[in-house]
Amino acid sequence: QVPPVAGPALLGFTAVAAARPDGIIVPEGYTAKAFLPWGTPLTGSYPAFLADASNSGSDQEQQVGMHHDGMHFFPIDQRSGATDSSEGLLVFNHEYIDNNLIHPNGIDTLPRIADQVRKEIAAHGVTVAHIQRQANGDWHLVSNSPFNRRITGATPMELAGPVRGSSKVITKYSQDGSRTRGTLNNCGNGFTPWGTYLTCEENWAGYFVNTDAEQPREHSRYGVSDDNGRYYWETATPMADAYQRFNASTTGASAEEDYRNEPNTFGWIVEIDPFNPDSVPQKRTALGRFGHEGVIFGKLEEGQPVVVYSGDDATFEYIYKFVSSAPYYQNTAGGHLLNDGTLYVARFNADGSGDWLPLDINNTDFMAKAAAAGVSFTDQADVLINTRLAADVAGATKMDRPEWGAVHPETGEVYFTLTNNSRRTEADVDAANPRAENRTGHIIRWHERENQAATAFDWDIFLLAGDVGTATPGTELVLDADNHLASPDGLWFDANGLLWIQTDMSGSQQGEGPFGNNQMLVADPQTRQLKRFLVGPTDCEVTGITATPDMKTLFVNIQHPGDRSTPDNFTSHWPDGGSSRPRSATVIITKDDGGVIGS
Ligand code: FEO
Ligand code: CA
Ligand code: CA
Ligand code: CA
Repeated sequence: QVPPVAGPALLGFTAVAAARPDGIIVPEGYTAKAFLPWGTPLTGSYPAFLADASNSGSDQEQQVGMHHDGMHFFPIDQRSGATDSSEGLLVFNHEYIDNNLIHPNGIDTLPRIADQVRKEIAAHGVTVAHIQRQANGDWHLVSNSPFNRRITGATPMELAGPVRGSSKVITKYSQDGSRTRGTLNNCGNGFTPWGTYLTCEENWAGYFVNTDAEQPREHSRYGVSDDNGRYYWETATPMADAYQRFNASTTGASAEEDYRNEPNTFGWIVEIDPFNPDSVPQKRTALGRFGHEGVIFGKLEEGQPVVVYSGDDATFEYIYKFVSSAPYYQNTAGGHLLNDGTLYVARFNADGSGDWLPLDINNTDFMAKAAAAGVSFTDQADVLINTRLAADVAGATKMDRPEWGAVHPETGEVYFTLTNNSRRTEADVDAANPRAENRTGHIIRWHERENQAATAFDWDIFLLAGDVGTATPGTELVLDADNHLASPDGLWFDANGLLWIQTDMSGSQQGEGPFGNNQMLVADPQTRQLKRFLVGPTDCEVTGITATPDMKTLFVNIQHPGDRSTPDNFTSHWPDGGSSRPRSATVIITKDDGGVIGS
């Protein structure tokens, strides 16, 4: 059984009710304010946001991107004390774009207009914003700060780790397979103990098209389209190399002269140093290639390997763990630790035990399983480019869409959200994914056996999400009106050991369900006390969470408010109100008495 953990004496607030506001509801005694919405001038000539969405591609490259997601606050003294709670770098993802809201008339022409495509690529990626708290308590963007930066779907990046230089990542752009351009569909995030940001490439496959009669396994297993890219970027007119690369079909040219390998340069975790505006983002290929949702470090121990967890958010996909070859020492730690190590995938056994199965070309058991399945790998780069296939042959447990993970700051216990999986049938049910047609999701947790790098663990189910009355077997938890929830997604432990849970119900689940709008709850992991803390605006998702070190300013992202809008009918007007175009934005939450959030 999972050992109990020390629970914090917090959660003193009154839970907010499930509701359908077109705004933010937080508990009495708290205040929530929108901050840094899509289009906020950020760098360069600081072009103003135009309310009719007529900003150009060049403007968007200098503005905050669209569809805020994972986020981290780096205190400005990160490299010395990491205690500053009034100034820092707020770094956040931009997962995707809303077809109907990004241009005045939405995405309405084929072939696509090149400058619109340029704008859409620029609306993806990551924002680094230097922010400061003013005397009156409000936060503002530090204009002209050298730290303010946009990283987009076009920013030059390096491939690091075992896949660098592989023949499978050679493109016309990078003849030695060392570089690529951009990061896409950045959903969850992480951060390293050495003060850098990690962004995760989730549903990147849909941006590419490969119309060949037969796609290679490194495309087909990930869902690269055989029809058209998600936003038809491959049709941009006038065409340029920067757009041509989204077409991965073989053209008759050699692999060195086309972009058949371009999708293989996506599906990675990307490390960004926000304190060095000139740094080149590094794709850390040792951590595997899949639909990365989030990434979280295990509890650190001086002299022990670093351990990194990441989930693959698709139905029946897996949870992974990376263990570095080199030990962690605070003085020397850096990105090199993520270039060399062993990638494992989780098997959850019915008796509550679990095993980490290595995906390693040098592991004889793994290679024997691959041979038995008729699968061959040429080298570790081939294993990593085909991480999903490697996990299939290893015999991992197929999960109900692994989203974010969180590690308890003291015990090292790991929690993961499994958002939902309506495709699971009675025949597919297993102990770790115990419900058929799992529309509401659950949260699983485990404790590594000897230390964080162990290959065996013990797990249990922390909660089954659902309507009022939903019980989690083996526990006393029965959901009530203060905490019923569905589709848990974002997950984060604060420094006090409280577990924050964010939901990503689909539009129909919000519309038809008893849960109101997407929301954020907070739990005591020991007692399983669980309370709803925030309800978001119409048709939004609540995702991304971080705080100042004193836990007195909480940052939460609101993604795609007004998700069902059309270019001439907005279903939300958050955050600007009136008849305005809805915009994704960060929300800053403070307690009116200046106290700790969650108390
Ligand atoms: Fe982008 Fe898995 O949510
Ligand atoms: Ca998510
Ligand atoms: Ca989700
Ligand atoms: Ca979303």
